Amino acid sequence: MKTHKIAAIPGDGIGKEVVAAGLRVLDACATRDGTFTVDVANFPWGSDFYKANGVLMPEGGIDELKAFDAIYFGAVGAPDVPDHLTLWGLRLAICQPFDQYANVRPTRILPGIESPLRGVTAEDLDWVIVRENSEGEYAGQGGRSHRGLPEEVATEVSIFTRAGVTRIMRFAFQLAQSRPRKLLTVVTKSNAQRHGMVLWDEIAREVAIDFPDVTWDKMLVDAMTVRMTLNPRSLDTIVATNLHADILSDLAAALAGSIGIAPTANLNPEGRFPSMFEPIHGSAFDITGKGIANPVGTFWSAVMMLEHLGEPAAAARLMRAIERVTADPALHTPDLRGNATTDMVTDAVCAAILGDNE
Ligand code: IPM
Ligand code: MG
Repeated sequence: MKTHKIAAIPGDGIGKEVVAAGLRVLDACATRDGTFTVDVANFPWGSDFYKANGVLMPEGGIDELKAFDAIYFGAVGAPDVPDHLTLWGLRLAICQPFDQYANVRPTRILPGIESPLRGVTAEDLDWVIVRENSEGEYAGQGGRSHRGLPEEVATEVSIFTRAGVTRIMRFAFQLAQSRPRKLLTVVTKSNAQRHGMVLWDEIAREVAIDFPDVTWDKMLVDAMTVRMTLNPRSLDTIVATNLHADILSDLAAALAGSIGIAPTANLNPEGRFPSMFEPIHGSAFDITGKGIANPVGTFWSAVMMLEHLGEPAAAARLMRAIERVTADPALHTPDLRGNATTDMVTDAVCAAILGDNE
């Protein structure tokens, strides 16, 4: 029997509720499969930890995580802690040292769920956004001088390296090649950002030579929002910088029905470090403690985690279970205009896994 060692970091707000639900579902997957177990260690890091200890995770926390096969993350962010502290203190403090440079965000309209776009169905919207996750606008370069004075200045410098852009382009072309349509859209803003984004375009063109069977095109990020909304069917795999993909993936989630459904994998594709899986939504303090958070984004993230752990059968079974449950409007949470609770959805997904005969 194989054992997968999972570090669970529920974090803040509804992160705690959805990760608890996700761990129940993972257990059901292991029970139904019978060839592997999950050995979960829980790390109570996040804003409460910060209020007690002055840091979001302890010194040496990263070294502790190295021993795990994957990290299952909830959300981080609290109303009374500045957002840039929580982000840099935990999520980016894991993504960056573990070189999780490929952030993968699939978007589909699941059964039973309606897109806010008139007439758009599951066949029209089936995308994967690849977000560069280690540099770009989130490189952390910059600073502030002359604080509080009229001449105060702040810089926020984007970094684009040949190595960093090449590896994310190769990853995106490979992913596009593995999907039936073999279609990639490279998002850019090289009309206005004439250094980093021009390098980005040049490298896309160079990498494309190695993937002659992939059809690719280039879109300016502003025009991309229009194309996603008006012509979703023309897109398949999408690659964009850290900030552009951050924005486009929220739009994608909304167009597919709810931000509560969308999953993310933060991958270190070479497996030198653990990868991290999390729902795309945040800590949502407005609904925390009410038991109504949509756990589907966290479950779908577990599908990606099982794939990464080399359990494709269990991953496919979990995805089937999720789709069976979303198909039933009585199991929709309030973000989908339903009345179901997190527990109802979780119970139903566990039952669908255990009862799956395929
Ligand atoms: C995301 C989130 C984060 C980001 C926030 C919480 C800082 O929006 O994962 O998309 O911008 O990276
Ligand atoms: Mg975002």
